[in-house]
Amino acid sequence: MNDTRPDPGYEPLPPAVEPGEMRELTRNAVRRAASRQWSVDELSWASLRPEQLTDTDRSVVRFITFIEDHIPGYLTYFLDAFPVSGTDLAIEEFCFNREYFRFLISWANEEERHASVLTRYQIEAGISDPETLMRELAEEGRKKFALPYESPVQAFTYTLVQEKATQLFYQRFRTVAREPVLRDLLHRLARDEARHFAFYSELVEAYVRRHGLAATVPDLKDVLATFRMPLADTLNGYWRWSLRIADATSYDHTEAYQALVRLVNGFATSGGRASAADLGAFTRALRGL
Ligand SMILES: [Fe+2]
Ligand SMILES: [Fe+2]
Repeated sequence: MNDTRPDPGYEPLPPAVEPGEMRELTRNAVRRAASRQWSVDELSWASLRPEQLTDTDRSVVRFITFIEDHIPGYLTYFLDAFPVSGTDLAIEEFCFNREYFRFLISWANEEERHASVLTRYQIEAGISDPETLMRELAEEGRKKFALPYESPVQAFTYTLVQEKATQLFYQRFRTVAREPVLRDLLHRLARDEARHFAFYSELVEAYVRRHGLAATVPDLKDVLATFRMPLADTLNGYWRWSLRIADATSYDHTEAYQALVRLVNGFATSGGRASAADLGAFTRALRGL
């Protein structure tokens, strides 16, 4: 006999973070974003000195334009993973996703600005022309963006590491770049990425507070073990390109893993010492590879 009643033991999974707390986190992040707004026209384009760009600078600018320009795909991924439409959504889950949406829109607006400012930079500096660049970006941009993660905390952790890695990279690139408009631009990008990182740190912290460190560390380890920068698997020539860039700027994206270790260590006093030590050792092993 078929019994279609829900199993009495069935309970929907609790949202990653309590919706009221998520509301606070997103409200703060959106407020910080609004008070640090800037526009593409604000840069001193008339001061641009393309003759000060090295071949490596030009190559790095092309690379990071591809990365920033994948924002439509990245946003689409998040909107699919945290839907805000459908009566099958539990109210709690909807409330969480609805609050997250406020952050995602503000964040996507900033990443979109990064894509626009780099596109404009390429044109103004004569690195490319509008038609060629539009087609080149379209070639990569239309490839589907996906992350291999199942649980929300993994998506948050991935983004935390990626935002930190991008921030560190822009700071590093700025120490070698000489062209003044590029230096100003990198400063602005790094500041925005630092803010994105701060939001995800707060979110992962809230998650750990709710679910416990021991239950979370396996997910965090899985993210670090499989971490690839966005587009690593789709952008033509990604690996050779990224190695050359890392060499030229003495950049190592695994430095960003330390940010996660520091976050987790913050919980080590509240009974999670063994889990925190476990993640620390795991990260050291990964970075030693
Ligand atoms: Fe960005
Ligand atoms: Fe970002």
